This record gives sequence, C-alpha cells and structure tokens, in this order.
Amino acid sequence: MDDYLERYPKTVTLKGNLEATLRPLVAADEKAFHEFFCTVPETERLLFKHRVTEPEVIHDWCQRIDYGKILPLLAIADGKIVADASLHQQLGGWKRHIGRISVVVHPGYRGRGLARKMIQELIDVASDAGLEKLEAEFLGNQQAARLAFAELGFSDLLVLPDYVKDMQALAHDYVLMGRHIITDEEYAGMG
Ligand SMILES: CC(C)(COP(=O)(O)OP(=O)(O)OC[C@H]1O[C@@H](n2cnc3c(N)ncnc32)[C@H](O)[C@@H]1OP(=O)(O)O)[C@@H](O)C(=O)NCCC(=O)NCCS
Repeated sequence: MDDYLERYPKTVTLKGNLEATLRPLVAADEKAFHEFFCTVPETERLLFKHRVTEPEVIHDWCQRIDYGKILPLLAIADGKIVADASLHQQLGGWKRHIGRISVVVHPGYRGRGLARKMIQELIDVASDAGLEKLEAEFLGNQQAARLAFAELGFSDLLVLPDYVKDMQALAHDYVLMGRHIITDEEYAGMG
C-alpha cells in the first residue's frame, strides 16, 4: 500500500477556488480529527456506525493506524481538517478483492465537489492496490451521500428494509452500493 501513498500530500482546487491538501491521517492529527467530527450535526452523527465525538474512539483510531487495512484520507483547508474519506480492506477471506469507502465532509465545506474528489481519489488508490470492486454502506435516508456515490458509478446492490438501527435504536433501511474497478491491465487488454 505504501507505494500508492507516494502521491500525497496532493493539492486539489475546489469550487470557489478553495485549495485543499489531501493526505493520510497521522497520529498527531488526533485533536484536530476529533474537532472535525464535532462539527458534524448530531442528526447526521446519530446515523454513523461509531461514536465519533468520544475522544477515546478517535484516540484509538489514531493509535492503530494501518493504511493497508484502513486508509483514512484527510482534506486540509484553512488550517483545519475539512473532510475524511476512508478505504477499508479485508486482507483475506471472501471479500479480499473488495474495498469499502466512506466519506464525511465538514458542513461548512459542502457543495464544492470535495466528496466527489475524495471518492474518486480512493477509487484510484483502490485500483492501484489491485482491488476489483468497491462497496459503500448507507442508511436509507443518507440521500446526499447515496447520490454522490451514484454519480461516481456506484449502484444499489442491496436494500434491506428496516434492517439496521441507528444510535437511538430507530430502524432504517440498510443500503449496500457497489461498483467494479477497471484496472490498468484490463484497460490495456481492451485495445
Ligand atoms: C454526503 C456528503 C459526503 C457530500 O459531501 P459534499 O462535499 O458536499 O459533496 P459534493 O460537493 O462532492 O457533491 C457530490 C454530489 O453529492 C450529491 N449531494 C451532495 N450534497 C447534496 C445534498 N445536500 N442533497 C442532495 N445531493 C447532494 C450531489 O449528487 C452532488 O453532485 P452535484 O454537485 O453534481 O449535484 C456530505 O453531505 C456529508 O458529509 N454528509 C454526512 C456524512 C454522510 O452521510 N456520509 C455517508 C456515509 S458513507
């Protein structure tokens, strides 16, 4: 995985001419990473899998960094973390060829194409890492995120009505989206 990380840090330009730097999370980001998650409205956080405003959760993530398993890619702008997108890999078993992507953008930096840029970035990393497919998991009412992934070639693989529960124990549809990755070798073979 380390070879694919040589492209970072990388500067991208967003709508409104805002420049952001993309780079992987490091242990020293712990405080800023916690502050970032505290900017996400509670209504959205209740739908997350993890209690991201608890400092111990973020401490644990920052202590157990292993980019081969989880690559948390940050966007930094105006001196703070403004987005986090991660690529999860299984490293064995039935799903060893499938990566999973998730993304969260700071509320003050939405609508500028940042989620799109970061998802595309992780699709490229996944392709370089030799993965064949990508998936992403949602609750049914995470509409904006589902649209963002749909625009990048993901489609619904599975919708299970009222299958999962949020942090307030309210039931939601479980949505699994996915897409194939076409590797450079496959492109070469198409000619
Ligand atoms: C979903 C989220 C990541 C989008 O971030 P963003 O940087 O604003 O997204 P982008 O500007 O790259 O927009 C990409 C596409 O997403 C969709 N989208 C983004 N915000 C939307 C909104 N409020 N309503 C509907 N669609 C929206 C659109 O299709 C958009 O494409 P368009 O600009 O051509 O219309 C952001 O709203 C967020 O962090 N939400 C909370 C976290 C979450 O739900 N994560 C999902 C779990 S993986």
